[in-house]
Amino acid sequence: MRQGTMRQGTMRGEMDGRVCLVTGATSGIGLVTARVLAERGADVTLLARNPAKAEAVVAAIKEQTGNPNISALIADLSVRAQARHAADEFRARHERLHVLVNNAGAVFFGRRRESADGIEMTLALNHLAPFLLTNLLLETLKASAPARVVTVASAAHTGAHIPFDDLWHRRRYFAFGVYGETKLANILFTYELARRLDGTGVTANALHPGFVASNFGHGETRLWNMAFTLARPFAISTERGAQTSIYLASSPEVEGVSGRYFANQRPVRSSRAAYDRAAARRFWEVSEQLTGLAAGATAQSA
Ligand SMILES: NC(=O)c1ccc[n+]([C@@H]2O[C@H](COP(=O)([O-])OP(=O)(O)OC[C@H]3O[C@@H](n4cnc5c(N)ncnc54)[C@H](OP(=O)(O)O)[C@@H]3O)[C@@H](O)[C@H]2O)c1
Repeated sequence: MRQGTMRQGTMRGEMDGRVCLVTGATSGIGLVTARVLAERGADVTLLARNPAKAEAVVAAIKEQTGNPNISALIADLSVRAQARHAADEFRARHERLHVLVNNAGAVFFGRRRESADGIEMTLALNHLAPFLLTNLLLETLKASAPARVVTVASAAHTGAHIPFDDLWHRRRYFAFGVYGETKLANILFTYELARRLDGTGVTANALHPGFVASNFGHGETRLWNMAFTLARPFAISTERGAQTSIYLASSPEVEGVSGRYFANQRPVRSSRAAYDRAAARRFWEVSEQLTGLAAGATAQSA
C-alpha cells in the first residue's frame, strides 16, 4: 500500500487532460487503477455493472482525489447488447479516449454458466467483452492518439490453449482451466491488436497483476472461499496489484511500446501459445463472429 501511495504522490497532474475508461472499477485492481488515474488528473469513466456500487465509488474517488471529472457507465459486460450500449454512451459523452483499461474479469467456480447471449460465461466476460468494447472504441482511440489499450490478463494463461473444437466447454468444464484460456485469449488479442494498430499511435499491452487480495473468486463456492482465505496471507494488496495497470496506462516510459506482456512493471515473456500468430488470427475471426462485429468494424490485419 505504501508503495502505491508514494508513487501517486509524486505524479499528480501527470494525466491532466487524458480521458480514461476503466472496466470493473468498483472493486480490487480496477478500483485502485481508476482512483490513481483520477489522482493524476485524468477524466475517468468507470464501467460497472452495479449502479449503487458505481455511484458510491464515483463519490468516494471524487472526494479522495478532489477531481470532479469522474463518472460511471453501467453495463453487465457479459451481455453483448449492454457492452455495445456502453460504447455508444461513452462516444456520446466523449470525443476522445486516451486510455482504455480492460480490467473486468472473473472465474466461475462450481457449475458451468452461460451468458444471456448463450455463451460460456468466462469466455463472454473475460475475452469477448474486452474484444467487443475495444473494437467499438477503436476509432475514438485512433482519433485521440497517442492512446493506449491496457488489458489485465494473468499468469494463469500459462499452459492454456484455445480449445477451438469446444469453445463452449459443453464436454468438460474445469473452472480454473477455462479461466486460464480466457487469459491466454487476452494476450493473443493484445498481440494481434498491436499488429493491427501498428502505425496508428494506439498501443496495446497486457499484464499480470500478481496474486492480489481482491474480491476475485469470492462467493463462488465454499471450497474456493476457504482456499482463497487460506491463500490470502500470500497475496499482495490491491494497491500493489494495480501498479502495472497504472504504469501501462500512464507512464511516459512505455509511450510507443506495444504488443508486450508485463509483470511488475517490466516486459516479460508470455507462454509459447500466446505467440502463435495463426491462433491469434483465427481466434480474432471467431471473436468477430461471436460478438456480431462485421469484418470491417474491427482493426484490419496488416
Ligand atoms: N486477483 C488476482 O489475484 C488476479 C490475478 C491475475 C489476474 N487478475 C485479473 O485482474 C482483473 C481484476 O480482478 P480483481 O482481482 O480486481 O477482482 P475483483 O475484485 O473481483 O474485481 C472485478 C471487477 O470486475 C467487475 N465485474 C465482474 N463481472 C462483471 C460484469 N459482468 N460486468 C461488468 N463488470 C464486472 C466487478 O464488479 P462488481 O464490483 O460489481 O463485482 C469488479 O469491479 C480480472 O481481469 C482478473 O482476471 C486477478
